[in-house]
Amino acid sequence: MASYTTITLVKDAHTALLTFNRPDVLNALSTTVANEMLDALLGIGSDADTRVLILTGAGRSFIAGADISEMAAKDAHEARIYSELGHRCMNTLQDLPQPVIAAVNGFCLGGGLEVALACDIRIAAESAQFGLPETILGIIPGWGATQRAARLVGTAKTKEMIFTGARIKAAEALAMGLVNRVVPDGHLMDTVRGMAEQMCRQGQTALRNAKTVINRGIGLSLDKALRLEIDTFVDLFDTPDRREGMRAFLEKRKPDFTGA
Ligand code: COA
Repeated sequence: MASYTTITLVKDAHTALLTFNRPDVLNALSTTVANEMLDALLGIGSDADTRVLILTGAGRSFIAGADISEMAAKDAHEARIYSELGHRCMNTLQDLPQPVIAAVNGFCLGGGLEVALACDIRIAAESAQFGLPETILGIIPGWGATQRAARLVGTAKTKEMIFTGARIKAAEALAMGLVNRVVPDGHLMDTVRGMAEQMCRQGQTALRNAKTVINRGIGLSLDKALRLEIDTFVDLFDTPDRREGMRAFLEKRKPDFTGA
């Protein structure tokens, strides 16, 4: 695997773990982080052997937002380049064929929450804190949160977070549907790894198609989205994994999927 300076990427069986690794600055997102992350994601997306990706942060933070020291020196033209790089990175993350779980430890602010929002599932440690504090810096979120947060938790909660910039505790994030689950701090990685292992055992073609149908369908009319579900359901009947999955059930054994 490529060697990076601001992230680490480790593969264990079929699960890849990407760790944001600038703990001195609470893993703030610099341009280098975005470029390294994008490179890593493109590699993971084309690696059929990787079935699940987990994202987390080194030290006491998931990501405390965009790198403010770097942003402070930018003009509008450079800000566009930074925002467009961030969007490319977040779209690549959202569109990865594999499921992605954010294991959120500590601060998950600004761009950090935007990264978590582009993941499929968010599991938070009890002490995690969330927020979109950009307006105190005189800007708005620029890596997708105005849209992804609004689609996940609704416009009212998104506006409250952006207009006040307030930090939200994990329990409140759970109550508003921003995260899937909250676990004691010491159990975060075990919980996430357990979930990843469970996903690895499922039919991989089915799982990837389910992700595509959900992600694409949300941007379509209900009629078109339901049609997409029917077409995908039907297509899966022609796959070896579908035959193996159903045969294994009838023979009362575990399926031996090939991912085809
Ligand atoms: N960009 C650049 N550096 C950052 C950063 C960011 N987003 N967030 C934290 N850091 C740096 C701090 O400047 C500090 O560096 P220093 O030791 O050289 O002074 C280091 O990380 C530790 O942060 P510190 O503020 O001392 O920790 P804390 O526990 O007192 O506070 C936060 C933690 C997250 C509340 C605080 O760092 C913060 O508000 N960060 C900015 C969050 C933000 O606005 N994000 C959105 C950006 S669009």
